Amino acid sequence: MSIKALRGMKDILPPLSHKYLRFIQAASKLAQNYSFDYIETPLLEETALFRRSVGESSDIVGKEMYQFIDKGGNDVVLRPEGTASVVRSFIEHKLDKKGGVHRFYYYGSMFRYERPQKGRFRQFHQFGVESFGEPSVYEDAAIILLAKEILDHFKIGYTLKINSLGCPTCLPPYRQKLVEFLQSHEDICDDCKRRRDLNPIRTLDCKNPHCQEIYKEAPKLLNHLCSECQREFDKLQELLRNEGVYFEIDEHLVRGLDYYTRTAFEFVSTELGAQNAVAGGGRYDNLVELLGGRATPAVGFAIGIERILDLLPDEVPSREGIYIGVLDPEALDLAFDLATKKRKTAKVFLEYKPKSLKAHLKSADRHNAKYAAIIGEEELKQNTIWIKDLEKKSESTIDIPCFLEL
Ligand code: HAM
Repeated sequence: MSIKALRGMKDILPPLSHKYLRFIQAASKLAQNYSFDYIETPLLEETALFRRSVGESSDIVGKEMYQFIDKGGNDVVLRPEGTASVVRSFIEHKLDKKGGVHRFYYYGSMFRYERPQKGRFRQFHQFGVESFGEPSVYEDAAIILLAKEILDHFKIGYTLKINSLGCPTCLPPYRQKLVEFLQSHEDICDDCKRRRDLNPIRTLDCKNPHCQEIYKEAPKLLNHLCSECQREFDKLQELLRNEGVYFEIDEHLVRGLDYYTRTAFEFVSTELGAQNAVAGGGRYDNLVELLGGRATPAVGFAIGIERILDLLPDEVPSREGIYIGVLDPEALDLAFDLATKKRKTAKVFLEYKPKSLKAHLKSADRHNAKYAAIIGEEELKQNTIWIKDLEKKSESTIDIPCFLEL
């Protein structure tokens, strides 16, 4: 039986891979414009990293981790997300002790053992940014604007949802009220009962319609924010409005990971199915300290690349590069040498098999080349090349120095 890719894991072949690269290039450029630097962290991390950061109440840690014991007996996991790894790296390299602001962007594979469906995979790709050391709400706004710029660049339609998840001053008394409310509703689902004990605010984004109906009556965190959280949330809205950003406040937006404080946001596409979140993020001011570093405010987001690629129209490729073909086998050495020289500056497709002129022109067209360069017996003798400009449909015979200048 032939071996296939694992369920929920996909190959990215052309032309999809072209879109993937185009996305990475444009998103990287925009992140650099916002002063973010590239960072790369390992795909494998200690399991404890995600248990402590993403949290025991999350589906990611509770059900979805690709976790195993490696040959050295280490308990490891294929990273389900990027934030925890970047925080680990930030602390390990003592950037927390250095102070100042450090901004990073990254992209790559993430792994979650979820039930695969449209827009949901077990190996998927994120483009993410993490900013450390900046407590100002202007940074939250800048991060949201960066995500928006990236989506706008690709003309992705979305709704931006924002919420505030409070801070260690206002969250605990609110949590207590919510727990009392949840305890008075024994008919909530089993998942919510588990969350009630681990991280009660995570109940609020339960997808079960019965629970959703109940939570309409639940006490609202936005009515319990402390004055500072309220001021920051108001300022965030003002900054977004000033930049002409349309947003909705979603008081049930709590995000699926436990580390958030204050700002939480998601970009939700109207053009996707059930898996409609294209990007999500927020502030996580306690995570660096929680993972053993010096207390450092932080904020970030990640975009799901597969969901973006799904929304991008197919490219209409323009003609590019040179197709080189030979009419006789004797011309192949020269063709090979010319191809090597041209490849320093241009895209070259070299056909090794001698063919008729007509067959070569057909192949050049199929390869979407801008020029077809053909060498036969006559050209070999004269040290020339027959060229056809496949856009302008013009033909000429040129000498080799002229061809190398093309
Ligand atoms: P997240 O909301 O879990 O956040 O994931 C971010 C995005 O990754 C989602 O909005 C979605 O587009 C995509 N995504 C998640 N799971 C899948 C999947 N199974 N298949 C395809 N796409 C998926 C985080 O991961 C946080 N680390 C974001 C962050 C960065 N917060 C602060 N900094």
